[in-house]
Amino acid sequence: MRISVIGCGYLGAVHAAAMASIGHEVVGIDVDENKISTLKRGEAPFFEPGLPEILTRGVNSGRLTFSTDMVCAAGARVHFLAVGTPQQASGYAADLSFVEAAVDTLIPHLRRGDIVAGKSTVPVGTASRLASLIEPTGATLIWNPEFLREGWAVEDTVDPDRLVVGVPGGSTEGAIVSAEGSEVCPTPNIVQTMKEVYHTAIAKNTPFIVTDYATAELVKVSANAFLATKISFINAMAEIAEATGADVTQLADAIGYDARIGRRFLGAGIGFGGGCLPKDIRAFSARAEELGRTESVQFLREMDAINLRRRDRAVQLVVDAFEDGVFEKKVAVLGAAFKPHSDDVRDSPALDVAARLKGFGADVVVTDPQALENAAQLHPQLTYTSDRDEALRGADAILVVTEWDEYRHQMSPSHAASLVREKVIVDGRNCLDPVAWRAAGWTYFGMGRP
Ligand code: UDX
Repeated sequence: MRISVIGCGYLGAVHAAAMASIGHEVVGIDVDENKISTLKRGEAPFFEPGLPEILTRGVNSGRLTFSTDMVCAAGARVHFLAVGTPQQASGYAADLSFVEAAVDTLIPHLRRGDIVAGKSTVPVGTASRLASLIEPTGATLIWNPEFLREGWAVEDTVDPDRLVVGVPGGSTEGAIVSAEGSEVCPTPNIVQTMKEVYHTAIAKNTPFIVTDYATAELVKVSANAFLATKISFINAMAEIAEATGADVTQLADAIGYDARIGRRFLGAGIGFGGGCLPKDIRAFSARAEELGRTESVQFLREMDAINLRRRDRAVQLVVDAFEDGVFEKKVAVLGAAFKPHSDDVRDSPALDVAARLKGFGADVVVTDPQALENAAQLHPQLTYTSDRDEALRGADAILVVTEWDEYRHQMSPSHAASLVREKVIVDGRNCLDPVAWRAAGWTYFGMGRP
């Protein structure tokens, strides 16, 4: 099937390449000329495991092309909208200007019967507003939210846990009728077309949920809100553990065995960051307030506050490790990305903590296997090295803030001890074995651990 993907950022680039990898003929469109020329060469503009391989294959096969010209979208049967919806410069609401601009530019190239599939994370109510703009072309808007995780984006796109498609009126039968009364596109055709798009997932019996616009939009934001809540819940328990001498990791294991709770996303530490969870829960709160439902999502403000407090806690643990504070002490910060398997530093708790320690006068040296270039752009005041041993050499404290395998499994306490000045380690992600580090003579501090 011929497919266009409008917006080749994180979501769009992965989606375009993944769609080509399952046999579709795909054109990716973006206004950023640099990004498009990188993608045209079959190269990924950011780090994502598995993406360079499918980009190269797609481009070499001729099935995957890229352009800055929206005219190239003409003739596609399905047009995916994958542009960003960042937090507004002023306030918490989502900035929809990129989505609106993409729709405006796409409209002249739509044909009767085309499907425009919104993938961007938007405030509930956006799809029905955009649908009224698209409807006169005879194309139909559907909402098909994306749940991919950075680091597993290719796998999540090709083999998702579920597929959600919001159609006008939420009907699974009958036809969608335009305001003028003419039939735009029969719903069964839309559903059938989307099943053809995702044929590999459908062949694996992936749950396929057909619903209305509002539900489809809400599935995405509520899933992210739930995940953020789960992380903040365990981090709140970490605060209680710190007041009582309990161990939050054992607590998480014990409650996680309950199948109703589950162990995933109960990793206590310096909390969530990245380009999605923080902005999405804030935009969700802002939208609920607009809808007069402030009290329904009041708890999300609390989740956000718990999350940010854990960053303070990590800073405090490092500062308190020294009798006379952290001024001019060398702190080796292991990690800059908001999570492992990513070079993304947007709202990274790791970098926030590092920058605050620098603000207290510490001599901060940051290392990370992938994210240093992005980190240096965001926080040029910090010192960076790609050599972990160099970061550790002469350090008065180590702070682990991104749980890369390089630190979890490939850093021996005795080797680290041979490099540092003081054997103090703060494990901001509870990813190290305290027994092994203490046995090697280290003073170990975890988050919510005795
Ligand atoms: C998230 C959602 O998981 C994904 O479904 C959605 O499409 C986009 O947002 P992502 O931003 O890639 O994906 O990261 P995720 O794996 O969810 O992690 C988010 C943050 O939570 C990271 O900073 C991570 O370190 C943190 N986290 C995660 C914890 O602090 N503890 C955990 O137990 C899990």
